[in-house]
Amino acid sequence: MEIVESIEAVRAIRWQNPSLTWGLVPTMGALHEGHLSLVRQALIDNDRVGVSIFVNPIQFNDRADLERYPRQIEQDTRMLAELGVDVIWVPSEQTMYPARFQTYVDVELMTRSLEGVARPGHMRGVTTVVSKLLHVFEPTRAYFGQKDAQQAAVIQQMVRDLAFRSEIMVCPTWREADGLAMSSRNVLLDPVERQAATVLYRALMTAQRAWLNGERNAQYLKTLMTEIIQAEPLARIDYISVADPADLIEIERQVEQGLISMAVYIGKIRLIDNITVGV
Ligand code: PAF
Repeated sequence: MEIVESIEAVRAIRWQNPSLTWGLVPTMGALHEGHLSLVRQALIDNDRVGVSIFVNPIQFNDRADLERYPRQIEQDTRMLAELGVDVIWVPSEQTMYPARFQTYVDVELMTRSLEGVARPGHMRGVTTVVSKLLHVFEPTRAYFGQKDAQQAAVIQQMVRDLAFRSEIMVCPTWREADGLAMSSRNVLLDPVERQAATVLYRALMTAQRAWLNGERNAQYLKTLMTEIIQAEPLARIDYISVADPADLIEIERQVEQGLISMAVYIGKIRLIDNITVGV
C-alpha cells in the first residue's frame, strides 16, 4: 500500500496500467465501519482501490466544528492496510487549495434545501472538493454513503451535469446495534449523549412504521418524529424533513415516495440521519 500526497503521485499510480479499474472512496478520515463497508464494496467491484483522506475546510461553515472534527490518520492507515487498499491519498490543504484558489462547483436547486439551509456553503464545499478529487484521481467508480443522502444525490447530479467519467456508487447506511447511524462525529458524544443519540433512529423508525401502516400525510409524519425528538431532553431539532427523493423538494401533502431526513443536535454535536420510503 502506498501513501501519497501530491497530484502527480496519484496520477502516476492511477495510470501505471490504464487497463485496470479503480475505485475511490473519498473520506475525511476518522474511519469507522461505515467507511470500511464502502471500501469493501470498492474492493469487490474494482481491480484497485484508493481512499482519499482530507478534512475539507471549505465544507465547514462552523469553525468550532472544523476544529473538533476527529483526526486519527495513523489508525486510519492501519485499518486501510488491513483491508488491502492499494493507495491512500492524503493531500495537503496547499494541494487542494493552492494560493489564489478561486474556482468552485455549485449545484443549484438541490442544494437549497435541507443541509443547504442549515449549513450555508457546505454543499458547495463538498461539490468543489469532490470534483477536484474525481478530476485528479479519475476513478472508474467513486463510493459514497446513503447516510449523507443529500450529498449523494447532489454528487450524482453534478456528475451527470458535468459529464464526469466516474460512476457514483451509493451504499447503505451502517448502524450501531442500537440503530445509531455510524458517523465520525459519534466519538465526540459523551456516554449520556451517546445514549440520547438513539432518538434519531427511533423517530425515523416510528415514521417508517406509520408509513408502512398506510399513513401518507407528510405533516403528520413530521409531527410524530418531532414529538419523539422533543421528548429527549438532550436533543434539539435543526430540521425534520419529508422530501421528494428525486429533487429534494419538501412534500407538503401525500408521501408515496419520500426521503425522510433530519438533523438534530445532541448537546453540541449535530447528527444527521435518514431513511427512504416507497423507493
Ligand atoms: O462525506 C464526507 O466524508 C465528505 O463530505 C466528502 C465526500 C469526503 C467530501 O469532503
